[in-house]
Amino acid sequence: MKIAGSRRLHELSAYAFAAIDERVAQLRRQGLSPVDFGVGDPTIPIPEAVRAAICRGVERHKSAGYPPYNGSAEFRRAVASWTKRRFGVELDPDQEICSTIGSKEAIFNFPEAILDPGDVVLLPDPGYPPYERGTLFAEGRPHFLPLRAERGFLPDLDSVPAEIAARAKIFWLTHPNSPAGRVAPPSYLEEWLAFCREHSIIAASDEAYSEIYFGPEAPHSALEYGRDGVVVFQSLSKRSAMTGCRVGWVAGDRGIVSLFRKLKTNIDSGTPLFIQDGALAALEDESHVAQMRAEYRAKRDLLVDAFARAGCPRSEPEATIYIWQRAPKGMSGIEFAQRLLEPPIAAVTLPGEAVSRLPASAGDAGYVRLALVPPLAECQRVARAIAEGGF
Ligand SMILES: Cc1ncc(COP(=O)(O)O)c(C=O)c1O
Repeated sequence: MKIAGSRRLHELSAYAFAAIDERVAQLRRQGLSPVDFGVGDPTIPIPEAVRAAICRGVERHKSAGYPPYNGSAEFRRAVASWTKRRFGVELDPDQEICSTIGSKEAIFNFPEAILDPGDVVLLPDPGYPPYERGTLFAEGRPHFLPLRAERGFLPDLDSVPAEIAARAKIFWLTHPNSPAGRVAPPSYLEEWLAFCREHSIIAASDEAYSEIYFGPEAPHSALEYGRDGVVVFQSLSKRSAMTGCRVGWVAGDRGIVSLFRKLKTNIDSGTPLFIQDGALAALEDESHVAQMRAEYRAKRDLLVDAFARAGCPRSEPEATIYIWQRAPKGMSGIEFAQRLLEPPIAAVTLPGEAVSRLPASAGDAGYVRLALVPPLAECQRVARAIAEGGF
């Protein structure tokens, strides 16, 4: 039997990160072992205390049945107290927090709870692909806002045409920004929220990288500026290297959280309770997060310096696990990624074109994204090769 698959699925280009996985496998089959900076998946083990809590959780919930859709009461209370400690914001664990199976599914599915066909979603370019794909699957219309270096990689609110703002229902902000690694100043967050309120648009703040920052001050949450019309997407994937556990949450405006919860009861059956036990342990401990920040910072410093010594524009992230490295003048992201893949550098990076339509359309210099996930020794080897090779 030949199954054609849906029109919507066919219309999508291959998921960029899957294509990178394929390329790495291909090179490995040829006997090469390039260092993989492609996918943003931490290689650091899940913290020991978290692993132990998960193991205990398996016994504790040995006949637990389906977990609650919105997370256990214990989990939601832990999220509320972390949010209070970290951002000084009080959340009602019953009405204003809902667990997710990691942020990706939540981001992809969220538009289904909000959009009618043809409604507009404002989203950053470059940006996390599920913002666009979730919009398309919900039959919405993405409106991309370019992030340019000269504007601090922040969406230009004045550039949104009035008729687009009037039809927009969701505005995605990645804060701190991925892949550009910038932290928005509080004044920008306030302007963004005022813009969303003025046009009755949901301010959807993706804060997956809020804990991986390098400056003296921790990034703020959009929730610090009020929760009316605001929803934050959080995740333990990067904060606690728990990508494989699939656990996060949405928090904010109770009306929006309630719509999301209703949607979710139709899509999934909740985060496993033993994983939620691991999340409780992760949220209680900040020392592993500080250690992780230090490791990412060491790798960031090495590679940022190496690129600068090789004659590339200095591209230093303030946060996230990525370097969004500008290509040497005249080179596209794809060409730059191909250069970096050549021995002796032999590094797999993600060409900017995979997460952005900007370089091709706007004639900007290209970018590559490096996820700082390989072990430090491999980063050192690659950094040496970059600095010595030049561009
Ligand atoms: C910007 C951004 N948001 C959200 C996520 C989702 O993370 P997860 O689904 O693991 O929680 C990622 C993952 O790479 C990301 O880069």
